[in-house]
Amino acid sequence: MKIIQDPGEMQRLVEEYRHAGKSLGLVPTMGALHEGHLSLIRRCRAENDVEIMSLFVNPAQFNRRDDLDRYPRDLEGDSRMAQAAGVDIIFAPTVAGMYPKGYMTYVTVEQLTERWEGASRPGHFRGVATVCAKLFTICRPHRAYFGQKDYQQSLVVRRMVADLNLDLEIVVLPTVREPDGLALSSRNVLLGPEERRQATVLSQALFHAQDAVRAGERDAGLLAAAIEAHIRSAPLAVLDYVGVCDPETLEPLSGITGKAVAVVAASFGPIRLIDNAILEP
Ligand code: PAJ
Repeated sequence: MKIIQDPGEMQRLVEEYRHAGKSLGLVPTMGALHEGHLSLIRRCRAENDVEIMSLFVNPAQFNRRDDLDRYPRDLEGDSRMAQAAGVDIIFAPTVAGMYPKGYMTYVTVEQLTERWEGASRPGHFRGVATVCAKLFTICRPHRAYFGQKDYQQSLVVRRMVADLNLDLEIVVLPTVREPDGLALSSRNVLLGPEERRQATVLSQALFHAQDAVRAGERDAGLLAAAIEAHIRSAPLAVLDYVGVCDPETLEPLSGITGKAVAVVAASFGPIRLIDNAILEP
């Protein structure tokens, strides 16, 4: 397994692979790898000749300094896990390598980023879209793999790829969860024991909504209210948003007529968590 820091060196290497007719897959990550990341890596390996994982805690997508400072970092542990999972190349650039002095170009995806995470974390998706555009240009993958866990992010990246005519396929894979339902996240290790225990209300509330829709509930307002009440039943949960919305535009729905997505965000102590679930009648 190679670990490459320099974007120029990475570009030269992938050019050789492409010239030799190899297919390239990319899994973009910010490290602190867990089973959710590994599920993306496994699929990437199954579908491509060369498996690239990027590992970069992207300052441009953090709207809070404390969140960026606190974000778990473990290059050594991550390299071990990546190697065991069969990653061929880790691209781990430095901040100065990605955003050198004088940097001033950003990618903005419009309407889709106005609600939910976009509203709660101003500038977040501008940072995500920008770093993904750069990673796609540097690593030139045929396919890039994302998790449904960050549902709005996956839509934003898909939109950018379509709008900018970027020549790669975006693959989105299901959320990997703990046995008690909590979506795996690099931030989970920062939860205290009681916060961790109560954080299960997020997935429970979403699963109940899925059950309710299967049982015939079609009122999106009632579904959202039930999700909200369930999350608020955890004394440590500070609710940010609950949305029951169109799965493509993320506009809130009034009624469920086809596929919908429920998105939630809440903090437990200083740690903010998000989750989502597809609702299907
Ligand atoms: P990060 O949070 O490290 O996540 C990297 C990828 O793993 C994302 O596509 C995310 O959706 C996916 N992922 C995280 N938790 C998951 C889970 N429980 N199940 C399945 N997939 C999961 O998301 C980012 O990094 C960054 O925004 C990035 C795209 C790398 C741009 O900086």
